[in-house]
Amino acid sequence: HATITGAVFTSHVPAIGAALDHGKTEEPYWQPVFEGYAYSKTWERENVPDVIFLVYNDHASAFDQSMIPTFVLGTGASYPIADEGYGPRPVPGIEGDPDLAAHIAHSLIRDDFDLTLVNEMAVDHGLTVPLSLMFGDVEKWPCKVIPFHVNVVQYPVPSGARCFKLGQALRKAIESYDRPLKVHVWGTGGMSHQLQGPRAGLINREWDNAFLDRLIADPAGLAEVPHLEYVEEAGSEGIELVMWLIARGALSDVDGAVEVKHRFYHVPASNTAVGHLILENHPRAEAPAEGEN
Ligand code: DHB
Ligand code: FE
Repeated sequence: HATITGAVFTSHVPAIGAALDHGKTEEPYWQPVFEGYAYSKTWERENVPDVIFLVYNDHASAFDQSMIPTFVLGTGASYPIADEGYGPRPVPGIEGDPDLAAHIAHSLIRDDFDLTLVNEMAVDHGLTVPLSLMFGDVEKWPCKVIPFHVNVVQYPVPSGARCFKLGQALRKAIESYDRPLKVHVWGTGGMSHQLQGPRAGLINREWDNAFLDRLIADPAGLAEVPHLEYVEEAGSEGIELVMWLIARGALSDVDGAVEVKHRFYHVPASNTAVGHLILENHPRAEAPAEGEN
């Protein structure tokens, strides 16, 4: 059976991708951002999964006002990099896992999550910036990626509670896959930021750090936070954080089975608060102390 071995949570600020692509990682403005991911790159290298289930949102690259799917599961064999206005980022294309994706589609749709299945779409900074942060500048991504897009751009957007439940159903889907794959589940976007209007530039360190605390220790409680609180406290684009609840929902609910490997928070990166967590998942059979004494 497949197992979920870890979860990564990270902001996906496009300027981080531009800094990497233009060799600016050592500049004083960017150095502290990339330093926060130094441990992460080592951890990811030592724990390369077979597949990353990567929860992100498209930013009017593949989907726009012509089509607004709430949840998109990428069932394709490969995905090109989107051109967001300056040409596609110079990073490798994405290899999908159509077989695992088809299994997840069956399982989630039977569990009443009405997904849109997409075989062909370009992926934007929401997906590529997290990969770059975790793997650096590579010729080829070292594993397959199943893209999972959540509409957090055009209202109505799904609630944190819906996302958390979807994550729990995702865990069941992955753990019932009949092949011994190691899977990571990533949640991306956030943290506090507002890109438009009179409150543009809004950052809320206190709220962001409470979000990280609760994501670790009280995810079910955190899932009850309504949209309005995200928008009031974390800015209009802070709503992206509901996606982190999908990845958290996919982790074990056994006490002590989820371990914090890394936590990082930094302001600013292009008017956005950068937040990052790595949680390791110790599946039931391997939960510390289980079956001992
Ligand atoms: C920006 C865009 C994003 O999608 C995001 O999550 C954070 C910042 C930006 O344009 O600066
Ligand atoms: Fe975004």
